[in-house]
Amino acid sequence: MYRYSSDTGSWTLNAAFYRVSLLIPDQIAALRDRLKDRQLDVLFVNAGVKNDDGQTIVDVTTEEFVRVMVTNALSPMRVIEAFEPLVRSNGTIGVMSSGQGSLSNNTNGNYEVYRGSKAALNMLMRSFAARLTIEDSIPNLLTTMETYAGRPGLHCLDYLGRAVPW
Ligand SMILES: NC(=O)c1ccc[n+]([C@@H]2O[C@H](COP(=O)([O-])OP(=O)(O)OC[C@H]3O[C@@H](n4cnc5c(N)ncnc54)[C@H](OP(=O)(O)O)[C@@H]3O)[C@@H](O)[C@H]2O)c1
Repeated sequence: MYRYSSDTGSWTLNAAFYRVSLLIPDQIAALRDRLKDRQLDVLFVNAGVKNDDGQTIVDVTTEEFVRVMVTNALSPMRVIEAFEPLVRSNGTIGVMSSGQGSLSNNTNGNYEVYRGSKAALNMLMRSFAARLTIEDSIPNLLTTMETYAGRPGLHCLDYLGRAVPW
């Protein structure tokens, strides 16, 4: 964090740097343990890799595909899962995705493996954010059951009482 001193008229960087590989869960866990008494305002995972731009899904080796997918999609989520408990309740969690990860915007192909990895990251982040807790779902489930108590017929409903196609 940069801090400005009006006394000296200069900025100073107040930061600590730790080097970990996203690909090594033990290193992520070790850093989380080291920081376990801290509270984070912002958790942002920036790291990412790309493969050869011209490689299509036909050209890429399985090893290279796995490297890009694991680095760009799985590993950022592992970091987020590990560090989320340290983030303040009003804090921010983010990842560096890419416009290349947009399904709708992909009208010209190219960067196929990289695109796939960022699209996977987007989906995993969306799932992470949308994950229901028991505290969210059970009260709504009970309300839905009470609402439908005594009503004849067969209903297929979600926990909010919305009809789900059979
Ligand atoms: N450049 C663009 O136009 C662009 C556009 C949209 C999104 N992005 C995204 O922005 C992020 C940064 O990209 P960039 O362009 O700045 O690329 P970059 O210069 O290659 O930086 C990538 C960073 O990720 C780190 N990293 C890679 N693999 C890692 C691993 N296994 N564990 C820990 N750190 C790892 C690298 O660390 P080392 O140097 O130590 O390897 C480096 O600091 C990426 O997620 C990228 O997909 C980039």
